[in-house]
Amino acid sequence: MYHCGDILGRGSYCTVHEGIYNQKEKVAIKVYNIEKIGKDTLFMVQQEYEALKKLSAHPNIIHLKAILMNENYINEKNNMIHENIMVILEYAEHGELFTLLETLNSGLDERLASYYTQQLINAMSFCFQHHICHRDLKPENILLDSQYHLKIADFGFATSTLNDSNNKENEEETKLLYTQLGSSGYMAPEILLGHGYHGEKTDLWALGIIIFILVCGFPPLKMAVNSDWWFSKLKLKKYDLHWKAHERSYTFSPYF
Ligand code: ADE
Repeated sequence: MYHCGDILGRGSYCTVHEGIYNQKEKVAIKVYNIEKIGKDTLFMVQQEYEALKKLSAHPNIIHLKAILMNENYINEKNNMIHENIMVILEYAEHGELFTLLETLNSGLDERLASYYTQQLINAMSFCFQHHICHRDLKPENILLDSQYHLKIADFGFATSTLNDSNNKENEEETKLLYTQLGSSGYMAPEILLGHGYHGEKTDLWALGIIIFILVCGFPPLKMAVNSDWWFSKLKLKKYDLHWKAHERSYTFSPYF
């Protein structure tokens, strides 16, 4: 028996509530109002469910406990009964990595950044072993549990990197994805150009941006397009100019 409590956050498609299972275990409950969601959102719920079913065993991926379809939920404010889909997740007590970075207003100690980098790489490597890419990696979608361990969450944009084609000749071609998803600051250049992309490679691009932010507290570039000064220096292999400009805001250790 789940009790749905206060709102932790609102997404574009759902609200996330604190919850209690069997009057003792704290959980997070994602509530989707069936009357309001369309086919696309239903598809996202399904994608998240399919991905988490395979990935939940990893210690750095949020654990899916249950999914309840057509649940009646009483809105305590107006006493209305709504029909919902409820996704029950492990509760991540310390919320989003984004909020931690925002509160600190700086990067993390390099040893902590390195420890978190290891956790992120372990989790993503597990995803890739299961042929799943996330496609919306960003600090808002990375949560912290009671011991400040990282948990990758929000697999609504996740997809399989396999496809139905057995055509070996075109294997590379058929693995390409085309849907433009994610947040622009974390998008790889090939996505922004509207080209086909490899899900794993673009997740690794986003991971690189996140690791830079973990260390410095700001991103390495605004957007991976030629008009962005920071990106253009990397593209033209003018790495020195890129690093020198960042060194005005951050002193990199010799290990970086
Ligand atoms: N916000 C979104 N998902 C959450 C979770 N699983 N735990 C805590 N806060 C969250």
